[in-house]
Parts: sequence; structure tokens; C-alpha cells
Amino acid sequence: MDNKQNPSNSRRAFVKTSAKAAIISAAGMPLMGALSSCESKKEEKKEEAKEVKPQVETFSQIALPYAFDALAPNIDAMTMEIHYGKHHAGYVKKLNAAVQKEQIGGSLEAILANVSQYSTAVRNNGGGHYNHNMFWQVMSPNGGGVPTGKLAAAIDQAFGSFEEFKEQFSKAAATRFGSGWAWLVKNGTQLSIGSTPNQDNPLMDVAEIKGTPLLNLDVWEHAYYLNYQNMRGSYIENFWKVVNWEEVSKRFES
Ligand SMILES: [Fe+2]
Repeated sequence: MDNKQNPSNSRRAFVKTSAKAAIISAAGMPLMGALSSCESKKEEKKEEAKEVKPQVETFSQIALPYAFDALAPNIDAMTMEIHYGKHHAGYVKKLNAAVQKEQIGGSLEAILANVSQYSTAVRNNGGGHYNHNMFWQVMSPNGGGVPTGKLAAAIDQAFGSFEEFKEQFSKAAATRFGSGWAWLVKNGTQLSIGSTPNQDNPLMDVAEIKGTPLLNLDVWEHAYYLNYQNMRGSYIENFWKVVNWEEVSKRFES
């Protein structure tokens, strides 16, 4: 006899099936709940990761704060034009390509602080961009003379006198073998002088001298060769006539 023929058997079968379904459903609830909670935590983590990953920036040169010939005769117009328009522009273009390719987000300063984690392209072109953007600003057609105020006092305290400071900085620039930069940096209120090879700078975790850059001098041959040929010393001597002490003071006091 089948269930169709016996209504009481049919009811019994329905009750059994419903009870099984209820047990399975009840047992499954905590598991489903745990799975659902796990998925939502994964989603939250994904969201967090999205939030903390800084955006890949597009870097650009500052507008040159003066005309190409404004620093002449200390730095000639053609050197400035090629230096700014070809060399610096090249670093920026290659830096942008490198951070895009490697998907490196964040400010240039943050990238430089962890530069050992990235490629040589990021190190060379990131440094090249930072160093030149700064270099244009620490020079001025109205520059030269001596620093004043708190910066002057800090220089006297650190080096004994402005003349002594000039001598030490000039020596750092003159003795940097090959291409590189001379630097005046601060750590807190403490000033120090040093130099870096290639396009390294004191913001880099790999740098030989670390600190906040206040003054820099480019001693790559591209910075002086057209006018000074091999006479790096003369270029350094004339650099002092265009140093923008107002800008250096601003950096010191910030
Ligand atoms: Fe340069």
C-alpha cells in the first residue's frame, strides 16, 4: 500500500520530512552565521586595505621662480635652460613612469623615506626630482650675502662662524667624487653638512647624511660644465652669490 492510498501514512511521512528539515536548518544556522560573519570581516579588511593604500601621485616640476638668464653670470642661461628643461624634466618623467609601473603611492617625501624598498629608477629619479625642485628655490637673482636671524645664530653655534660654515660646505661640494650634491641639513635644531652621491638625498633611508634639507648644491657636471668646464671650485665660489637665504631661513624655521 502506498501513501496515496493511505492518508495516515502520507501525514506521517510529511511530519518526518518536516522534522528533518527543521533539524538540518537549525544545525546549519550557526555555520551559516559564522560563514557570513567571516565573509563580512574579509570585506571589511579589503575595504581597510583600499583605504590605507595611498594614491599614486603624478609629480611635476615647480615653475622656475626666475628667468633662465636671471642668475647669470654666476649660472649662465643655457645651463639653466638645459638643466631645468631637459635634466630635471627627464627625472620627473621617469619618476612618474616608475611609480605608475610599481604602483607606489604617497608623497615624494614618504617614498624617499622608504626608498630602499623600491627600484633604482625610483631612487634615482625620485631623488633627482626632489633635489632639483629644491635647488631652484634656494637660489635667487637677489641672493647672496649672509644669513640673518635664527639661522645665522644656529650656523654660528654649529660651525663657529659663517665663514667656517662656508668653507666646510664648499669642501663637501668640492670633494664629492663624481656626481652628487652638497647639503646643509637640520636634525631638530642641530645643523650639519655633508654630501651624497648621484641623486641621493638626506630624506632617503639609504643616505649617508640624514635630516631635513635646508640648502643644497648640485655638483653634477651638467650643472656647471658649459660655463666653468672642469673648474668646479669656481662654480662653488660663485654659487654663494646667488644663495637665497630667505628661503633657507624659512626651511630652518618651519
Ligand atoms: Fe642637476
